[in-house]
Amino acid sequence: MNGKQKKKILVTGGVGLLGNAVVRQAKNTYETVYTYNRHARNLDGARGIPLDITSAGAVMECIAGLRPDLIVNAAALRTINYCQDHPDEAMAVNATGAGNIAAAAARYGAKMIHVSTDSVFDGQKGMYKETDPPNPVTVYGKSKLEGERLVMGACPEALIVRVSSIYGMSLEGQSIPEWVLDQLRKGIPVKMFTDAYLSPVFADNMAEVMLEAAGAGLKGIYNVSNERCSRYELGLETARVFGLDTALVQPVSSETGEVKMRVARTRDASLDPTRIARAVKTPVLGLRDGLMRFKKLLDGGVKS
Ligand SMILES: NC(=O)c1ccc[n+]([C@@H]2O[C@H](COP(=O)([O-])OP(=O)(O)OC[C@H]3O[C@@H](n4cnc5c(N)ncnc54)[C@H](OP(=O)(O)O)[C@@H]3O)[C@@H](O)[C@H]2O)c1
Repeated sequence: MNGKQKKKILVTGGVGLLGNAVVRQAKNTYETVYTYNRHARNLDGARGIPLDITSAGAVMECIAGLRPDLIVNAAALRTINYCQDHPDEAMAVNATGAGNIAAAAARYGAKMIHVSTDSVFDGQKGMYKETDPPNPVTVYGKSKLEGERLVMGACPEALIVRVSSIYGMSLEGQSIPEWVLDQLRKGIPVKMFTDAYLSPVFADNMAEVMLEAAGAGLKGIYNVSNERCSRYELGLETARVFGLDTALVQPVSSETGEVKMRVARTRDASLDPTRIARAVKTPVLGLRDGLMRFKKLLDGGVKS
């Protein structure tokens, strides 16, 4: 140690797509502790501990023991179909669990960043501002909106970041570019909607933005977004950046019913990036730049 002690960060859901990126970006600056629930996994340069955020007692005990300066809550149930089928569990994790962390953050004086979603909107309008009235149409969206409400109620100093679509390196290859890469590398064509929009963000870039935002003391709701694009454009750009066959990315309209969705996806889930762009120096990367950073990460052979 040379004098100054590192601040401590706790990343709940640290094994997930975004949580893992936060750990990767934080570990050199912070003493980094992350939690896992069902998937125990070692992440380089950080300490992992088990925690079920639905247990108020366990959350309080964990935060009382660790006394982190900053908590990033990236733990959630975020599969739309799963939440639709398991509404009580969705509410317990996405709402009550988030509230449990906020209550402990407030009690022990930790700054909290809570991650939320475009799904708090109905997707009719797109380019949603932070001040637009929410109107969730899925169980997932409703549980996340209730999570925002509980976090703000328990910890008014918290920062809530809303994001429309995250991609990067996940355990199960769940993000859209990962799926596109997997299919295209096997020579399998993918049909992607030309009329469903989002504003995708690279997980590691989002982590950098969140860490700067926490340092700058931002509170309240901020979108983390940049470019609005269709799912088709996202697929196509992924193929281009990774040098794969763009002809395998096939445009399709959501109106035709050709691609079946059990729970209808929001038509336009894009988020207005103006507020965050004014508040932090780290740019939220546009589609091409974000995908190029993702490629660099994969090319570098990063494991966690
Ligand atoms: N991915 C996207 O495109 C997207 C879009 C909009 C918003 N978001 C939001 O971004 C955040 C991060 O999402 P993500 O894509 O990184 O999700 P993810 O990869 O599914 O990770 C979520 C993590 O939450 C943990 N978790 C689930 N239930 C838990 C519980 N009861 N107690 C403690 N931990 C629990 C899981 O841990 P175990 O695996 O160990 O069980 C998992 O690692 C979420 O708030 C999500 O709503 C994501």
